[in-house]
Amino acid sequence: MDTIIGEDIRDAIKFLKLGEVIGIPTETVYGLAGNACDISAIKKIYSAKNRPNTNPLILHFASVQQIQPFVEDFPENLLKLTQKFWPGPLTILLRKSNLVPNEITANQDFVAVRIPNHVLLLSILSQLDFPLAAPSANTYGLVSPTSAKHVMQDLKGKIPFILDGGTCKNGLESTIIGLQEQKVVVYRLGAISLEELETELGYVPTIIKNINKKPLTSGMDEHHYAPKTPLHFYEKKLVNEATQNTGFIFFQEEHQEISDKNKIILSKSGSLNEAASKLYASLIEMDTRNFNAIYIERLPDEGLGKTMNDRLNRATLKFRK
Ligand code: TXA
Ligand code: MG
Repeated sequence: MDTIIGEDIRDAIKFLKLGEVIGIPTETVYGLAGNACDISAIKKIYSAKNRPNTNPLILHFASVQQIQPFVEDFPENLLKLTQKFWPGPLTILLRKSNLVPNEITANQDFVAVRIPNHVLLLSILSQLDFPLAAPSANTYGLVSPTSAKHVMQDLKGKIPFILDGGTCKNGLESTIIGLQEQKVVVYRLGAISLEELETELGYVPTIIKNINKKPLTSGMDEHHYAPKTPLHFYEKKLVNEATQNTGFIFFQEEHQEISDKNKIILSKSGSLNEAASKLYASLIEMDTRNFNAIYIERLPDEGLGKTMNDRLNRATLKFRK
């Protein structure tokens, strides 16, 4: 199959109505989207990603009104949060209605929903009479794409079309929340920080770790979000052992002792938002430089730094002996 990158949302809409799955831009990462009410489109999503079908998909809508028929209820305290964070990178687990196919939720009673904040995608969603199921548009286990080019590199030949909506503004996946005993809990750290949620809620939401063998969300999967090149956390003493075949990703510091082709600085001004928007692109870029290993500096453990460290913990775990 030929894969083309285009900028016309009419092409995107045409493919989606035909039951095809395509790459779409969001404010977080690029998604692999299909008609959430069409079982054959859902199957195409799982197979293009090579993702186990035990791992459920997020539904994307243009408005709360569109969501209502797909959920049993929308608790008031969650609805209130959406006024602050939607459209935006907040995903909410709600009890599903019969309109949601079991293939979407991996037979669970809850469905994940969000209203994304991307002008092209919102326009598409408002013109469709079905929601879009969209996981991140990467092969299962790899780094999420933040540009149309990344999607092309990974999924060329597996999907017909990628809508180019520019570089993703946030660059990290949405934060996934739900309710437990009337309190908001976080299932996956994401582009909305714990601190931002705390400001709205008046308490720090508990992060639910993977306690059972079966992860409730794949954000809880241990090996995930990893580049192909072995990735490790940077420690100062390693620099002396560095060779031409070693890549480095630093948060802010210039590290003059290392040549430019061996390093990427995420944010010279020390902005965690900027670092977040560049993190995945930097990992993907480093992968193309064919190093033997990549060392990445741990980020400050606050705000989006927590989300980035969470992803990097999982990514480096894959290469730990
Ligand atoms: O920012 C995002 O959330 C991006 C963009 C494309 O919207 N999507 C994304 O999807 O990151 P994905 O599939 O790569 O990650 C979604 C996570 C998975 O860990 C999945 O297991 C979890 O959400 N999830 C989805 N539906 C769920 C459900 N019904 N119950 C529990 N976890 C669910
Ligand atoms: Mg993903």
